[in-house]
Amino acid sequence: MSRKSLLVTGIGELNVNDPQAVDNSADPAGRRESRPEPANNTAFAVEDGKIAWIGLAVDAPAADEVLDVAGRAVIPGFVDSHAHLVFAGDRAAEFAARMTGTPYSAGGIRTTVAATRAADDVQLRANVRRLVHEMAAQGTTTVECKTGYGLTIEDELRALKIAKEECDAATFLGAHVVPAEYADRRADYVDLVRGPMLDACAEFADYVDVFCERGAYDEAETRLILDAAKARGIPVRLHANQLGPGPGVRLAVEYGAASADHCTYLDNKDIEALAGSETVATLLPGVEFSTRSPYPDARSLLDAGARVAIATDCNPGSCYTSSMPFCIALAVREMRMSPGEALMAATLGGARALGRTDVGHLALGARADFAVLDAPSYLHLAYRPGVPLIHSVWKNGRKSVST
Ligand code: NIG
Ligand code: FE
Repeated sequence: MSRKSLLVTGIGELNVNDPQAVDNSADPAGRRESRPEPANNTAFAVEDGKIAWIGLAVDAPAADEVLDVAGRAVIPGFVDSHAHLVFAGDRAAEFAARMTGTPYSAGGIRTTVAATRAADDVQLRANVRRLVHEMAAQGTTTVECKTGYGLTIEDELRALKIAKEECDAATFLGAHVVPAEYADRRADYVDLVRGPMLDACAEFADYVDVFCERGAYDEAETRLILDAAKARGIPVRLHANQLGPGPGVRLAVEYGAASADHCTYLDNKDIEALAGSETVATLLPGVEFSTRSPYPDARSLLDAGARVAIATDCNPGSCYTSSMPFCIALAVREMRMSPGEALMAATLGGARALGRTDVGHLALGARADFAVLDAPSYLHLAYRPGVPLIHSVWKNGRKSVST
């Protein structure tokens, strides 16, 4: 039996972000996308969880239910394409020390590994659900989640299964750091990850990720793990160029990665490589905020024609925010993205980073994942930082959050 149809009307500003309607006139090669204008007086209808009709409100078809949003703006639900939610404990003291001068280093991850190994499945799952709920309350309807705080076959497998069940995409990050017990025999741990650990996890992994960084994995180690993923037909993404310049972005492009994430330290060659590829540059400005680091050069990436996404990187170490609106505000204020570019990167950009064509926009046929803002325009997401502007959230045509 088909579900009840829904008509959404009374919309003050509809932001469809239709990937087919982006204005490429300034760039015939089609890489530099400017956002379609938001529409007024527009309504849309939802059937079976999908956008079934969009048009002038006066022409709206009859529907089983009508949602009048009373002049509020509507946007596609955010696609948070980078998060680490399967963990226990927090690192608030590490954050406090950082704010008084201790630099961030990859080594802090081991603190969370110890707490995560000591937690049971019920605790880990509850933590993921809590954070996914927190994200939903801030307008996020699609969530990617990585492992990487287990670092044994058993602990990575249980983390990946929880991520797969509770989130929309699950990424295997057995190569997050080298765990303490392998400190003197790194090569053995790399062999474990690319062999038995990946064998155990492959069935549940939508992606394989490596933290390619000083203090984590170098180029040769990263290649071994990416090759193992490729051999099993699993798509890859990389943590790249977060703490300093390095080979990560270049490798991501070479391996056809879905995304190169962080991109904090890029040179012109990295920017050119990204611009000439389908690899999405996923920027995580909450990390720069929370580690007091320089922000990535989003302008150069966008101006060169690279595909750009914004995500939270929600994790207990480098950035413990679950808020896409906060990341949009940072992208606009600190990375000189226009509010429209930031909205696109937080919706369509994230969808591209996850290989999804059905979310991140509200064009005909898309999944009816949308947020109603307590504001007349999406501009308020950056204009009113820190203010809870989410009125209600709908996922697959069903109300998931209402405030
Ligand atoms: O994306 N860079 C690697 N992983 C996380 C940090 C994890 C942690 O500090 O616990 C990140 O920043
Ligand atoms: Fe991360």
